[in-house]
Formats: sequence, structure tokens, C-alpha cells
Amino acid sequence: MKIGIIGASGKSGIALTKEALKQGYQVIAITRNPVQMPNFNNDNRLTIKKADLTNKSSIKATVSNIDILISAYGPTIDNPQNLHQQVAKNLITIMHECQNIKRLLIVGGAGSLLNDKNQLLVETSIFPEAWKKQARQQVKALETYHNSDINWTYFSPSLYYDPELPTLAKFKIGNNHLIVNKEGRSELSYGGDAAIAIISEIKEQKFIKKRFTAGYI
Ligand SMILES: NC(=O)c1ccc[n+]([C@@H]2O[C@H](COP(=O)([O-])OP(=O)(O)OC[C@H]3O[C@@H](n4cnc5c(N)ncnc54)[C@H](OP(=O)(O)O)[C@@H]3O)[C@@H](O)[C@H]2O)c1
Repeated sequence: MKIGIIGASGKSGIALTKEALKQGYQVIAITRNPVQMPNFNNDNRLTIKKADLTNKSSIKATVSNIDILISAYGPTIDNPQNLHQQVAKNLITIMHECQNIKRLLIVGGAGSLLNDKNQLLVETSIFPEAWKKQARQQVKALETYHNSDINWTYFSPSLYYDPELPTLAKFKIGNNHLIVNKEGRSELSYGGDAAIAIISEIKEQKFIKKRFTAGYI
């Protein structure tokens, strides 16, 4: 089975590529800058292709023979436009036009999760102020996937989604509520555990047309 990963050279994208190869998949790593993509010791199951998500035809040219598409797209914090919405609409169009792609998985944000009082996390004081603008865009993008007819799955990480945390391969999976540990912290490593949760979902298919999350308890 072939998996296309958009944003493959980003922090989530590299971890997802590594885990997908580990779980035996072929990977098409889609990036705007192929030179910055690691080649994983010239693994012959990895193909690196160049495309930009803001240009639908460039993405379509890279996904003609894949089965599953993962978006690990992440704009910079100062992103002035509502690129999450534009990207969601572009990805939905790509799913409509490329019938070979059976499923889209999106690495999104924690802001759309609910706390134990059923409040949207992005509207609470524990959510970092600097990320609120972008997190609100991601809430709208999640609604766009919800209202679409494509086969989507949206992953929201924990609030502290940290590339430096060690991989524990032991975490809790949930639906729409933030997962916190006994000390009230919400944490997950990008490096390993988020990638394990997302790549495992391809086979497990527990969250078709749903959002899911993961975190340490
Ligand atoms: N706690 C939280 O809620 C939390 C914390 C961190 C991250 N996140 C979310 O996790 C997701 C991934 O984040 P990350 O930290 O892994 O991001 P990252 O390291 O910044 O990587 C994001 C990647 O997006 C790709 N990208 C940006 N603009 C693009 C475009 N126009 N076309 C194609 N690709 C483009 C880039 O890949 P190329 O350069 O390879 O093209 C970039 O490497 C994002 O949705 C982010 O919001 C959530």
C-alpha cells in the first residue's frame, strides 16, 4: 500500500515517514523542498516528490498512484491568511478528483478538543495566546472536513506536542476530549508516539470520518 505524506520534511512529516516505512508501507514524501527531506538510508520504498499545497495541480501530479494521503501541513505562526481553510478545501477537491485515494488523514491541532467542562480548548486560558489565531482557523478547517463527503480522519495531538519527548509507545487514544495525565498535563511526543497512533489508524480504521486524539496518562 502506498501512502503520500504532504509536509513530509516537517517535524510530524519526518516522524510519519519513518513510522510508515517501519510498518511496511511504501511512502511518497511530498515536499516543497526535496533537498531538505532525509532519504532514510536510501530506502527504496521511499520516493520524494516536489509539490505545493496551495497549487492543487502540483499536488495532483504527485498522488496519481497512492492509496492513502496524509497531510502534515503546518503554516508558520505568522501566517496572515486563512491557509488552513484553503488547504482543507484543496485537499477535499483532490480527494474528489483522484479516485485512487481511499482515505485522507490530517494532522491538526489541539485547539478544537474539548476540556472536561466541554469548552473548546482554544477559547480557554490554558491555550497559548500566540497560537489562538491559527487554532481558530484549524477549528474551521475541521468543520469543513466534517461537512464534506470524503473519507477523512483528523488527528488532534495533545496540548504539549513536543518533538523532544521520548517515544513511549504507550499512550491513551480518545475522541474529542483532551487527554490529561494525573498531574493535569496534556503531552505527547511527535517524534514517535503521534506517528505510531496515526500510522496504526490506517489498518485499524477506528476513526473513519471522525477526529481522534492521543496523550500520555
Ligand atoms: N498542540 C498542538 O495543537 C500542535 C502543536 C504542534 C503542531 N501542531 C499541528 O501539527 C501539524 C504539523 O505541525 P508540525 O509542527 O509538524 O509542522 P512543521 O514542522 O512546521 O512542518 C509543517 C510542514 O508543512 C509543510 N508546508 C507548509 N506550507 C506548505 C505548502 N504551501 N505546501 C505544502 N506543504 C507545506 C512544510 O513542508 P515542506 O517544507 O516539506 O513542504 C512544513 O515542513 C500542524 O497542523 C500543526 O498545527 C499542533
